[in-house]
Order: sequence, then structure tokens, then C-alpha cells
Amino acid sequence: MTPREPRILTPTTSAVPAPPNDFTGVPAMSLDLVSVEDFSHNQFQYIEDPFSFYALMRERSPAHLSGTIYGGTWLMFRYADCARLMRDERLSNARSAVPLRFLPAEQREEFADMLDIYARWLAFHDGREHTRNRRQANKGYVPFTDEYLEPRIQGLVDQLLDQVDPTGFDLMSQFAFPLPAMVIADVLGVPVEAHAELNRWTDDIAHLFGSTSVSVEHLRRTRESTRQLAAFLASEDNARRSRAEGGLLHQLREAEVRGRRFSERDVVAQAALLLFAGVASIRYLIGNSVRALTAVPATERELLLHPATAGPAVEELLRLCTPVSFVGRVAGEDFEYTASDGTVVPLRKGQPLLLYVASANRDPAVFDRPDELVLDRPLPNRHLTFGTGRHLCFGDPLVRQTTRIALSSLYRRWPELHVPPQENNWNNNLGFHGITSLQVTGDA
Ligand code: HEM
Repeated sequence: MTPREPRILTPTTSAVPAPPNDFTGVPAMSLDLVSVEDFSHNQFQYIEDPFSFYALMRERSPAHLSGTIYGGTWLMFRYADCARLMRDERLSNARSAVPLRFLPAEQREEFADMLDIYARWLAFHDGREHTRNRRQANKGYVPFTDEYLEPRIQGLVDQLLDQVDPTGFDLMSQFAFPLPAMVIADVLGVPVEAHAELNRWTDDIAHLFGSTSVSVEHLRRTRESTRQLAAFLASEDNARRSRAEGGLLHQLREAEVRGRRFSERDVVAQAALLLFAGVASIRYLIGNSVRALTAVPATERELLLHPATAGPAVEELLRLCTPVSFVGRVAGEDFEYTASDGTVVPLRKGQPLLLYVASANRDPAVFDRPDELVLDRPLPNRHLTFGTGRHLCFGDPLVRQTTRIALSSLYRRWPELHVPPQENNWNNNLGFHGITSLQVTGDA
């Protein structure tokens, strides 16, 4: 087969307006006419319900060349292709400058300082350099065991939940947004009170990497946010504080592998990566999970409260409610990849690919009842939420633990937590998919 041309897809079902997707249940075909070339991470239609689109693409065009995204990008929607390509060593993670592709080379210069920080992120390295940096970061992370973190995360969760008015509060601004920033700040050994700024700075960075269209104005704002975040992490005060607390910022400075340490700029860059990666994602995971859990009876939600059943329940929420919609790569060389439907994908060195994790996680070829939240789904739950292979998420234990403690604490306090009908305020960025406000009632 030859690569597919951009084309119009027409769904098989009628054009009855669908209810907003609630993360569970078989997605309704709300798209009466889908122009694949319109697909972007910043268009409300796809943010509101990406799952119908993914289902359509898995079936009709699972390996699809988008002419508009980053000037020509292969989009992959099936589990088999996403999993295989995440492990394919012919693909590279040196993709820090991909979102700036739309700029002429001379204008990119303006953002050189910002790109220098991203290019140092271990996530964007390949091969031996990646292994070395990851080992060094791992060494810094050794003290942060589950046992060490459990009471600290629980303390932060309790602190936030003690402050809300249980007769009605905004789960996102009062809990889901501050919590991850506080948890990661605490791990780094920097002030948890900085959570609002940390959220603001990481929001701008998340918009850059999760969107498919950014403006020069946004790039300038992101450069300023990145500069402020780096200055915060590099400050004398925070260095002293982290050293006194044995925080990760200090551990990254100290970590030595085969006589090599991170340079000061590398320490700041890796710490910025950890903050960005965790803050921009866990908040939406909590929000998406609470929305999905609203549809199941309180007796089922109890699975989250018991150690034996909480593990599988959290894995299922990670599968169905992932905020990270895709993993990016660029071709490291020219080669042809044959996709699971037989499509031959001719890749040119440097060409971007987007592997849609959120689609793979609902692939019926791998998951039974793929669109349903099955809290006791047997392990192993083979979701790709954290990727697979050498770039597997660095923070996955922290995510599992924070999510379990956050949700179990919420439902232990208020087993009948109620979410009244309301408009969904979506984050305008499908890359980090989630809502920015959610009114809930703890006590009736
Ligand atoms: C819901 C929360 C999260 C999700 C869904 C998530 C997802 C992912 C995924 C899919 C990757 C693989 C990217 C690839 O293959 O290129 C990744 C990598 C990474 N994540 Fe996470 N992440 C989350 C939270 C965190 C947290 C809390 C941290 C750190 C505190 C973190 C740090 C990292 C780092 C450093 C990498 C790069 C690893 C490497 O390239 O070796 N993530 N994450």
C-alpha cells in the first residue's frame, strides 16, 4: 500500500449531536464530517471529544500523514504501531525544537536561550547520552522511596482538603492544580508555596509541547516563563534550602556516575523537566479521573480505598483518563516503516511522528470493553500512558502514588462526592488533555 493522502472521512453513523464525552462509555460518533486535515490539538471539536476521532482513525487510517501539523507529520493511532515505534531505535527524541518549525531559521535565534534549556532535558536525548543522563537522574532520585513519600504526599493532600468548603468547591483550582506542583516542589526541596507560579510557568511550556499551533506571541511568553522557572531553580535561596532538606534539586547536583556530574545548567534543566512533566499532567489526570468516577456507583469507587484493589483501579484510570495524549518522535534516518494495516510509511530524517497513546489505550485489538472504566480490570493493564522502552516515564511511581492518595483521600472524606451538571472548561491543548475547573460537592 502507498501512504495515504489527506482526505475527507465520513462516519457511518448519523449526525445526531453527541453528549459531551465523559471518558467512559462507547464514544458517540459526533462528527458528521471529519476533515482529517483540520485535525489539530487546539481545536475545540477534537478537545471536547477526541475519542470518536481516534476510533475512526484506528479503523480507517491508522497511519496518517498530516500535511498541516509541523509541516508534515505522521500520526499513529493503533496500539501495535505506537508500542513498536516507541521502541524503534531509528527514531530519535531530539525534538526540542519541533514546535518552532513554523519559524524561519533566523527568527528561531530569538529563542536560543529557551531552546538551550529544553535541549538539555534527558527526555530529548538518544542512545548512550540518554542512558548516562537517566542513570545520573536516577541516582539523585534514590532517597525518594514510596515509604519516604507516602506521609509527605498525604500531608499535602490533607492540607488542601482541610481548606475547602465541602458544600461546594472547585476541585481543579483548589486541589488538582496545586497538589502536583506542591508534591514535586517538596521532592525538589523548594517552597511548596510557589505552586501558583510553578503552574503558570509549566502551563506555558505545556502549551508549547502539547499544541500543534503556537504563535510568536506565545513563544515569547514561554521564553519568559522558562527563564523565570530556571531562575527560580538556580537561585541561591533554593539551593540552600534544597541542600538543608536533602531535596532532589540538591541530589541532582551531587549525583555522580563514573566520575561525571551534571553541570549547573543541566541540573536546572533536569529539575525544570521534572516539574513540567509532572505538574502539567497529574492535575488533569485527577480531574479526568473524578469525572470518570462520577459515572460509577460509590460502592465501586471503594476499590480505591483498599490497598489490594487500589492498584488495579489506578492503572485503569491511567489507561482511560490519560492526560498525555501523544508521545512525539522524529525520524533519526531515512527509512520505511510498515504499519499494522500494511501502510508503508516513508520517513525522512527529521520528520516528526506523533504516537497517540490516548488512542492506543482504547484499541479494541488489545483491550476488552476499551471505552469503559473497569476498575477491577485484571493486571497487567497494558496501557501505554507512561510510554514503553528506554524513555518510559521517569515519574511513574510518583504519579501512581500521588493519584492513589489524592483519590482515596477525596472519596474517604466524601464517599458520595457529587459533580453537578456543568459546562466543561477544557484546557485548550489536546496534548495535555483535561478540564480546568470542576465544581463538586462533598457534603450534600
Ligand atoms: C500523569 C502523569 C504523567 C504521564 C501520563 C506521563 C507520561 C510520560 C510519557 C508517555 C513519557 C514517555 C515519553 C517518550 O517516550 O518519549 C514520559 C517521560 C518522562 N516523564 Fe512522565 N508522565 C507523567 C508524570 C511525570 C512526572 C510526575 C515526572 C517527574 C517527576 C515525569 C518525568 C518524566 C521524564 C523525566 C520523562 C523522560 C524519560 C526519558 O526520556 O527517559 N513524568 N512521561
